[in-house]
Amino acid sequence: MDDIDNSDPSGSHPPRHATVAGVFDGPPVPAPGVCADFRPGTPDLSLFPRAAWAAAQRTVLAGLPHGALGYPDPRGLPVLRAALAALLARRRGVVADPDRLVVCSGVAQATTLLGTVLRARGHRAVGVEDPGSPEHGRLFAATGLDTAWLPIDAEGLRPGPLAAADVRAVVVTPAHQFPSGIAWSAERRGMLLDWARAVDGHVLEDDYDGDFRYDRAPVGALQGLDPERVVYTGSVSKSLAPGLRLGWMVLPEALVDEVVERKRTMDLGHPALDQAALAHLVTSGGYDRQLRRCQRAYRERRDALLAALARHFPGASVTGIAAGLHVIACLPARYGPPARFVERAAGAGVVLRPLEEYGTARPADGAVRLVIGYAHLAPSVIAEGMGRAAEALGGR
Ligand SMILES: Cc1ncc(COP(=O)(O)O)c(C=O)c1O
Repeated sequence: MDDIDNSDPSGSHPPRHATVAGVFDGPPVPAPGVCADFRPGTPDLSLFPRAAWAAAQRTVLAGLPHGALGYPDPRGLPVLRAALAALLARRRGVVADPDRLVVCSGVAQATTLLGTVLRARGHRAVGVEDPGSPEHGRLFAATGLDTAWLPIDAEGLRPGPLAAADVRAVVVTPAHQFPSGIAWSAERRGMLLDWARAVDGHVLEDDYDGDFRYDRAPVGALQGLDPERVVYTGSVSKSLAPGLRLGWMVLPEALVDEVVERKRTMDLGHPALDQAALAHLVTSGGYDRQLRRCQRAYRERRDALLAALARHFPGASVTGIAAGLHVIACLPARYGPPARFVERAAGAGVVLRPLEEYGTARPADGAVRLVIGYAHLAPSVIAEGMGRAAEALGGR
């Protein structure tokens, strides 16, 4: 039984997909005629623990001293930093000192904060994974930094191009690479940290969906291997809701003061009441319950997607299935080319994104590689969507 009360305290029922596309790509409000929008990036917003969040807000409002309503510490409320440090150490193996943890508006603001610090320190460019999240590049660009695409293979960043790149900072997603879904090998993790030490550089570890693991032991955070080189960042965007704009970064000692000063000048600190409510949710055990609940729902949806792909697209291989909220499906060339596949599926009301939109590689094998988000879709919608896409392709 689910132990989180998900009832709507207002008594009204929110629309199932009441979201707008944010900084990061996510399904927009469904267009008329769209049966299934498989774009990655959004959790199931109907799983947001409304009652538990409302209870946390009531509790903290009743107990907060007046002084706590003044400008907050720009690093974040001490009670939240302590709660998050313990949570990240326990769940992700992060070496987390609350004094080196900064509460911020999601991975997006963490990226911008680090970008402004790196720019001020003389960096001109940052390495990004290829394929990777287009938003990493856009956010760094907003701070005046160019980006260098660095190719990924089945183990992580390839050493040669990294060594040749004229950068001293990279952003990576080692636990469940976005979008390929691979988990970086131990060797490549070691290689990246050796590189960072050799160039006196930094690694931004975006642990965007690190909480969701299905068939394998959790991959611990890279940051745990070298807290002085890795800036760790994550948020509640996948576990609670992106609309909360609540996230964190855990910093090397050498960067703390500069990042905190930028956070202060950017917005004079993060909203105190939301911070206090999250601290209550974490320390009361409600956050862990929410993660378990989402994990169960997302595993079921992942299984529904794998079954639908096997049924409707024989010969498809699927990777990145052990974790996260999306997979990569590779369909034989007879389904291609990718642009035609995506266009036909869209004509049948099924929104899909080809992997080639996330990077520079254009493999010549003609296969159709798709990045398929499933967490926000009910199993029945997943099955219908894949069935319709297959029909639109004429049963090939
Ligand atoms: C690669 C990646 N990083 C981070 C995020 C989340 O960003 P934020 O924490 O700012 O909501 C997303 C959201 O879709 C993402 O795809």
